[in-house]
This record gives sequence, C-alpha cells and structure tokens, in this order.
Amino acid sequence: MKMPFRYGCVVEGEYFCPRPNLERQLRDYAEAGQNLVIQGERRMGKTSLVKKAISGMKGERLLYIDLYGIRTLSDFCRRVMSGVGGVTEKMPFLKKALALAHRLRPALTIDSNTGAPTITVDAKAASEPDSLDAAMSTVRKLAEDGRLCVVMDEFQDLLKLKNADRILAEMRGTIQFQGDTPYFFLGSVRNDMLRIFTHPDSPFFKSALAFEVPPIDPDEFARFIVARFRKGGCGIKLETAKAAIEFAGGVSGDVQELCDALWGVTEEGGTATDADLPRALAVVFAREKNGFETAVADLTPNQLSVLRGLAEADSARVFSAEFMNRVQILSPGAVKRALNSLVASRLIYPRHNGYRFYNPFFREWIKTNL
Ligand SMILES: Nc1ncnc2c1ncn2[C@@H]1O[C@H](COP(=O)(O)OP(=O)(O)O)[C@@H](O)[C@H]1O
Ligand SMILES: [Mg+2]
Repeated sequence: MKMPFRYGCVVEGEYFCPRPNLERQLRDYAEAGQNLVIQGERRMGKTSLVKKAISGMKGERLLYIDLYGIRTLSDFCRRVMSGVGGVTEKMPFLKKALALAHRLRPALTIDSNTGAPTITVDAKAASEPDSLDAAMSTVRKLAEDGRLCVVMDEFQDLLKLKNADRILAEMRGTIQFQGDTPYFFLGSVRNDMLRIFTHPDSPFFKSALAFEVPPIDPDEFARFIVARFRKGGCGIKLETAKAAIEFAGGVSGDVQELCDALWGVTEEGGTATDADLPRALAVVFAREKNGFETAVADLTPNQLSVLRGLAEADSARVFSAEFMNRVQILSPGAVKRALNSLVASRLIYPRHNGYRFYNPFFREWIKTNL
C-alpha cells in the first residue's frame, strides 16, 4: 500500500492540501512584481505553498534558490547558479545563463540522480569579491528576458556569512532597481528575519511586504486527512483527525508526521480513533528517539531543568517565583542564560511573551520520559 502522507520534504500533487486563497494572493503579488517577506514557523508549508503557487502560473518562471545552511560567499553563488539551472531545461536559456555568469566559470552538468541539467561553478571563482555581482547580475539579466519570480528560501541564513551586512547591502542595490521582478524572501527564524527586514539599520529595511503563512484551516485539513486515509485503505474519525491537528499545533509537517504514524498503526479496512493516538505517538518517539536523546545529552542540568519546566507549561512566566521554584533555579540570570542556550540550539523559540518548542513531539517526549 502506498503511504498516503509525506513529511520532511516539499509536498505537491495529491500530498498537498490545497490552499486556494493563499495561492491566489501569491500569484497576484508575483504578477504585480511585489517583493514579499514570507514568514511562518518551520514545517508550516512555506516552501511547498510558494512552489505550488508560482509553478502553476502561466508565463511566470520560478527561480528557486535555497540558502539553507550556507556558510560562505562561494556557497551563496553556487546556490544561485544551481537555482538558475533549475528554471528550465531549455538549452537556449541555459546557454544564455552560462554566458552571463562567465566570471564564475560555470559548467553545465547532468545530475547523476535525476538526469536533469544543473549549473555548477568554479569554487575559486565563486569566492572572489566580484562573484556576488556576477551571480546577482546574471539573475537580473535573465529576468529582463521574460517573467521570472525569484524565491530565496531560508534567507536568514545569509546572516551567517562573514561580511553579511555588506553582502546584504550589495544585494539590495541590485534588487531595488528591478521593479517588475518579484523577489520572495522566505524564512523560518523569525528574529533573524525581523532583523533583516524591520531593523532601521538594515539595507533590507521595509523593502518587502510581510506575508504570513498560517496553519492550514483545521476543518479543511481534517477533511484532507480523512480522504488520505481512505486512499490508504482505511478510515479515521473526523474528530480524531482534528485531535491530531491540535496535538501538532497545526504545523502542517508535524500533522502529516503524526497522521503517517496513525495510519501505520491502523489495520487495513479499520478506522483510526482517539484511542489510537498514544500508539501513534509511540511510533513517532521510536523514530525520533536518537535525535531527542542526542539533543538532551549535551544540556547542562539548568538547561534540562528549564526545558522540563517549559514542556509542562510553555507559556509559563519564566521569571515568576512559581516557575523558578518549579525548576529549582534561584536566580533570574541563570534562567535567562539557560533559555538563551536553548534558543541558540534551536530547541525552543521566543513567542508571545513565552517560549515554544520547535517540535511538539520533543515536548511530549520530555514530558513523558524525563
Ligand atoms: N499544503 C500542504 N498540505 C499538506 N501538507 C503540507 C502542506 N504544506 C506543507 N505540508 C507538510 O509540511 C511539511 C513541510 O513543508 P514545507 O513546505 O517544507 O514547510 P516549510 O517550508 O514551512 O518548512 C511537508 O513535508 C508536508 O508534510
Ligand atoms: Mg522551507
């Protein structure tokens, strides 16, 4: 039986629960050449949504650049050119891109896994000071040739580069004169994105309109889940689908992960109910146990204690006497230090005057296992 749910990757086709309103808004913005800063929690579905919306447009081509984990200017140029190679397989376009980016000494290669053409660049040429200009002006000139929507995903990772401010300023310099070309900047680390787009000293200050990707409407998502279960040869009660959505905090990827486990523990022809949720959770824990254990292994006693306290109540007032008493740490400074380290390790993030876990399963695991 083919698995009806997918998670941890970009989803499309039957695995994508349609979000027609958001798709339409994004298409309208792309058509108007409006730059957007698109935010939402990780695994909320930003990348899938944007790819679906833009690739479904007539006459608009998608230049998708993934900046996840880049560390150097050379990484940046490589990702840009690899994105350019993915715009279309048409030879005239690819040849033109190669010619425009000549300073990066690019080459057309065939991806050994997919058989699709990709563009690679010379590592040394890509780390020269003028490489950023070479990459960005290639994009600009390609956009002059026909409609192009430029999507830069996990944009906040640019901040990790040496000279990030200078690089951002230079990018902004080329982007601001391309009024007709829509640039969509996606990011999931809210504080870093705010630093880039709302800090008055940042070159990108107020340069793009904010667009939030919220959770999928729970009623629509629940109906989608029921239909996917049917496709997978069994059923699920509508209320159980809703309970799974709620448990996962409405985060699309977490919902799909839980539903996949739930489907796995449901017999063929059977119907999943609320009573099956604990077994599904146990499956998720078993899959993720190694990662969870590694994450807590490096924590100091104070950090672990604060994490446990938050797992019990993540909207807790962390500097209240009640919370400090519960976690048995007496100084607010020590609580603050523990929180900062947990945020830096990307286990929790600040939200609505409190802190939330990135991963609802991790939170539950801490609650029940530590
Ligand atoms: N429209 C959708 N319908 C169903 N599941 C979705 C949808 N969008 C995202 N997901 C789920 O979320 C996961 C992460 O999606 P992704 O687009 O990579 O999110 P993000 O870019 O916000 O991190 C996917 O693997 C999938 O399980
Ligand atoms: Mg993404």
